[in-house]
Parts: sequence; structure tokens; C-alpha cells
Amino acid sequence: MDWKVLRPYNIEKLKGIPTPFYLYDMGLLSETVSEVVRLSSHYGIEVHYAVKANANPRILQHIASKGLGADCVSGNEVLCALGNGFLPSRTAFAGVGKTDKEIETALVNGIFALNCESIPEIAVVDEIAGKLGRKADVLVRINPDIDAHTHKYITTGLEENKFGVSKHDFEALAELLGRCTNVNFKGLHFHIGSQIMDVEEVFSLECRRAMEIVRYFEDKGLKITDIDLGGGLGVDYAEPDTAPVPDFEGWFRTIAKGMEIAGNPGRYRIHVEPGRSIVAQCGSLVTKVLYVKPGQNKTFLITDAGMNDLIRPALYGARHKIVNMTACSDHEDDTAVYDVVGPVCESSDVWAEGLGLPFSKRGDLLAILSAGAYGQVMSSRYNLRDLAPAVYMDWNGEEVELTTEA
Ligand SMILES: Cc1ncc(COP(=O)(O)O)c(C=O)c1O
Repeated sequence: MDWKVLRPYNIEKLKGIPTPFYLYDMGLLSETVSEVVRLSSHYGIEVHYAVKANANPRILQHIASKGLGADCVSGNEVLCALGNGFLPSRTAFAGVGKTDKEIETALVNGIFALNCESIPEIAVVDEIAGKLGRKADVLVRINPDIDAHTHKYITTGLEENKFGVSKHDFEALAELLGRCTNVNFKGLHFHIGSQIMDVEEVFSLECRRAMEIVRYFEDKGLKITDIDLGGGLGVDYAEPDTAPVPDFEGWFRTIAKGMEIAGNPGRYRIHVEPGRSIVAQCGSLVTKVLYVKPGQNKTFLITDAGMNDLIRPALYGARHKIVNMTACSDHEDDTAVYDVVGPVCESSDVWAEGLGLPFSKRGDLLAILSAGAYGQVMSSRYNLRDLAPAVYMDWNGEEVELTTEA
């Protein structure tokens, strides 16, 4: 595959656009989605794109147009997914704190499933479905107590996490499901964490644990047709160009094999919910160097994009690869070491420390790579800063289109 995360022949055209902005390479998105479609069909796995990773309408429309389903975590995400072309029959809705209004939204739109996260929630869904005269299709999210080997803020399948129903509640859950008259229980949902790099080890374990739990509930007389194994496939933030399209082959193969070894007789529909792996690499945050500020022991590059535009570094200590798009061509041989920081009045507004870059100056354009997931969608107006708009590189990488969408 020949895609590069940032293709140099676009840079001249980007220079005239006011910064900061999110730059989306729709060609790379298309390539990524095509791989997902091809491989998921090969391995017989149904894919629901996790809208939370990036809810930009143009991105949603592209993904929906290729036939993927949606995984949502709020009523507004459900409406946004449906409004941008996802089919209700392929849309799932998870989340530990669904409001009554959100549950109603899901039910009246006839989505594929509400992924319920607790016993009290299932009781409420049963009641609301009864009032609406509908049957609620439900998967129950299970907390499988698995360590996903990832950052503590993005691990979700450990006993101490707030997500899903834990083992000590299984008996009560089976009893409740047997009693609900307006709930159509379809199966189980798992999501153990995000940015998982130990794909084989972690997802094989998830499959084994999932099948053990499936058997437990089947032994209690409950019928299971669907198993949703969540998202979590990680991407390479350090060297995005080595795998602009993440290893979906390895992930799907691990799941297909893991389910087979764990004794899946092939009668279940298997679902996954990738977010980050589909959209991370197609997005960059493009920012201008406002000032080169010499400090006592270091030199700061101060950018016009800040933590309000991309919060991952401040929130998780995440580090994104940064390239100086302007200096690449001007001063290839001269390098210097910088702390690259944003303008927001918080000490955590830091992109990189001790980073070697080509000699940089005021006005240079920097690209903060791999910013397509959990970037624009998590941006805020903190410090009353403007929201960064989106710019789309078209399919052949020649043209850019500036929109004012934020
Ligand atoms: C329930 C659920 N499904 C899917 C995802 C998507 O995860 P990722 O972006 O790591 O693929 C998340 C992310 O937190 C989630 O909470």
C-alpha cells in the first residue's frame, strides 16, 4: 500500500488557509474503509463504526455509504448516525447512563440494539418499551474483567470500571432477563479498552472469556444470537507512515480464530465496533508557529493550536508525531530541539518535549499527525478560542476544500 499519512504535494495549497484546522485525507479514509469492508466480509464479522471517535458529517457519510453500521453512546449520536446515512438495523447504542429520552429515541427509531450496561437500566428499558408498545432489542454489556494493557483512562473491561454487568450480578441478570416482557434479549456485548497493541494476546483472551460467559447464560436457558466484541484496535502514533491502514487483517483473524477455538459453533453473529483504527490516521491537526521563544535551557515553539483543539496530549499524556511541513523543504539539513507547546493557559498544553525538528521559524506550518480519532470531536471552546474547522483533501490528493464546519 502506497499511502503516506501526509502527502507532500498538498502542502503548497494548504499554506493559504487560516490555521489551525483539521485536515482530512479522504483518500486514506476510503482506503481504510475498503480494507475493513473486504476483510470483515471475508471473516464474517459485522462492523459498527464507533461514532464517538469522529462524528464529522462528511466522514460519517463516507463510512455509512460503504455499508458499515454505527456504534453510538448517546441519543444525539444515534440521531447523527441515522441522519448521515447509517441504517437503524445496523446501529447500536451503548453507555452506562442513558436517559429515558435517549432510550425512547433508540426505541422509536428501531435500532439494532440497545447495549444495556446494568440491571437497573434493563428494568427501565423494559418499562419504557412497554409504555411505547414496542419490544426493545437488547445486548447486555458484560464486564469481563480483562486487562487490555492500555492507558488506565481507556481501559474499560476491568472489574473496577463502571462499564457493564460484572460476574457477581450474572445470576440476578439471568433471572431479570427471564422475566422482562418487553425486552428481546439478543446477546452479549463487550468492550475492554482502546488503543490495544497486544492484539493477539488481548483479543484471544476476550474471545475465550466471551464464550465462557455465553455458555453460562445459555445454560440458564437464554437464547443468544449476537456477540459484540467492541472496538479497541490500536494505531501507530509514533510512526504513522509505517501502517497508515491499521492491521485489520490481524485483528479480524484473531477474533475469527479466537471464537472458533473457544468453541463458537458458527451460529452467532459476531460484531465489532472500531473507532480509532478507522479514522485516526486520515486526520492531522495543522497549526502555525506563532513564536519561537528561547528559554533558559530550552527553546519553545508556540503553536496556534492548543489543547482545546486536540486534548489527547493534555488528557492522557498522549504523544503525536509532529512534522514541520514548511521547513521540510526549506532547511532540510538544519535541525534543532524544541518543546512544542500550545497557547492555552494550562501547563499541560504541551505537544512534545525535546523534539528534534528542522530549524523552525514564525509562520511555519506544523502537522500534528494521527489526529483523526478523538480529536475534532473532543475539541472545545476553552479560553473562548474558536473551534478549528475541517479541510478535506480530495480523492486524488490534488485539491482541498475549506469548510466552516467545526
Ligand atoms: C462501547 C465502545 N465501543 C467502541 C469503542 C471504540 O473504541 P476504539 O476507538 O478504541 O476502537 C469505544 C471507545 O471507547 C466504546 O466505548
